[in-house]
Amino acid sequence: MPERATVADADQLAELDRACFAPGERWSAQLWRDELEVADRLVVVQRDRDLMAAATFAVAFEIVDLHRVLVRPTHRGLGLARQLITAGALWAGDRGAERMLLEVRHDNTAALTLYELLGFTTIDTRRDYYGTGLHAHVMQCDLRGMTRGTNQGDHRG
Ligand SMILES: CC(C)(COP(=O)(O)OP(=O)(O)OC[C@H]1O[C@@H](n2cnc3c(N)ncnc32)[C@H](O)[C@@H]1OP(=O)(O)O)[C@@H](O)C(=O)NCCC(=O)NCCS
Repeated sequence: MPERATVADADQLAELDRACFAPGERWSAQLWRDELEVADRLVVVQRDRDLMAAATFAVAFEIVDLHRVLVRPTHRGLGLARQLITAGALWAGDRGAERMLLEVRHDNTAALTLYELLGFTTIDTRRDYYGTGLHAHVMQCDLRGMTRGTNQGDHRG
């Protein structure tokens, strides 16, 4: 079940990040701490004994941005990312957001498939956003469509 992370989770989040991203793409514990300390953010996690998955969101008026979602390689394909993004959508909807936006690398098939399954569509492509030849798709999703029929409570805070 998704739960809200606190600043005490920053080191574990950085360790999870190292397990999920290539060196040039990783977030440090300090970056995670910054994410956890800002008022308009939600960092939501799934725990076993260690952290297995995390996602972070920022809300501003009608838009919530999905900043990052990551699942430990050993725990992929279990629906954890889908649950975390839905939890973020519920949290943002409670704060008046109507749409979720994100950027994803054009060759990240797992993430693209996940986002399309949740109802995201590509609204723009930023060429060379992540480096030469590495384009970003900007995707958006209507929150009402994503959260219809869900009932997850304990991420709200
Ligand atoms: C992308 C990522 C977060 C998906 O996490 P996950 O928990 O395995 O995803 P879920 O189990 O919730 O998958 C939901 C759906 O996404 C799609 N999907 C997930 N992984 C996929 C893959 N490797 N290939 C194709 N489709 C995939 C499937 O449609 C899946 O539904 P299904 O299992 O019913 O077929 C995970 O692979 C990851 O952490 N990747 C590295 C970090 C990253 O790139 N994050 C995204 C950018 S910030």
